[in-house]
Amino acid sequence: MWLNNAMTSIKVSFTQPELQPAAENLGQRLGVSVVSADEIKSHSKVANSSDDSCDYVLQFDTQGLSLLPLKGKQHGPIRCDFDSGVNTHRRKFGGGNGQAIAKAVGVSGKFLPGVLDLTAGLGGDGFVLASLGCQVRLLERNLVVHSLLRDGLDRAIAAGADDSELGDIVARISLLEGDSKTYLAGLASMEQEDTVFLDPMFPERKKSAKVKKEMQAFHEIVGGDSDAGELLDLALQRARYRVVVKRSASAGYLAGMAPSYSLEGKSTRFDIFALKKLPG
Ligand SMILES: C[S@@+](CC[C@H](N)C(=O)[O-])C[C@H]1O[C@@H](n2cnc3c(N)ncnc32)[C@H](O)[C@@H]1O
Repeated sequence: MWLNNAMTSIKVSFTQPELQPAAENLGQRLGVSVVSADEIKSHSKVANSSDDSCDYVLQFDTQGLSLLPLKGKQHGPIRCDFDSGVNTHRRKFGGGNGQAIAKAVGVSGKFLPGVLDLTAGLGGDGFVLASLGCQVRLLERNLVVHSLLRDGLDRAIAAGADDSELGDIVARISLLEGDSKTYLAGLASMEQEDTVFLDPMFPERKKSAKVKKEMQAFHEIVGGDSDAGELLDLALQRARYRVVVKRSASAGYLAGMAPSYSLEGKSTRFDIFALKKLPG
């Protein structure tokens, strides 16, 4: 499968025979070949074997699905994990309704907006909003990213059987695959979402040490979301109360459109287009 960058290719693999059916299924959906992890290992020992070379592998192992770099790109597996690490820490100690993202989307003691996240990515922001009590609908168009997110959500749903707090959070999240522009255009004219949230990719910065290797990989897979201005236009037609655009703190306004106001997070900024007074 050729991704955003014409020089980037990907395969699907599996570490255990019992994971082969899931790998075949995903390989078919992505239109890419499926190989065992052992085959990948043995090919990678043959330097520059152009036939079977690929840049990334989407691998099923006992911990779920992850994206692994091949050909010496040095970063660890990219995996969507709602039940450990950063997501659990943020869920337990993230600051609740006081967080900039909570204020930005309009969460208060009196109101919990439904949120439509047009740019789901690996679901980090959506998960925070669902942790605060919002019903969240995630949309993701990139099949690789969608597959990682679907896998992460499915594992969180399973883990929710023993952790009711996690179970309640993931029950508030739904995920659709596809382009948000098509989704918004297909909504009936009266259908609106309380808050519409966008966090598009930036055009790739020069490969500086500041851009983490995982982020570089994500860029290679996804690209720069150059149609994000169009998405903002559509979002403004479909939001009931507000549209929120997440940007890096130093970035200009998306498509040069000035928001009603902005809220600064640590390294990020939330630009808020307020359309109507929030209830409560
Ligand atoms: C920067 S990432 C979002 C990160 C996310 N906020 C998080 O917390 O993980 C942007 C994602 O939006 C997706 N995206 C961009 N434009 C889209 C569109 N029109 N429809 C669906 N997904 C889109 C990209 O494929 C990419 O995965």
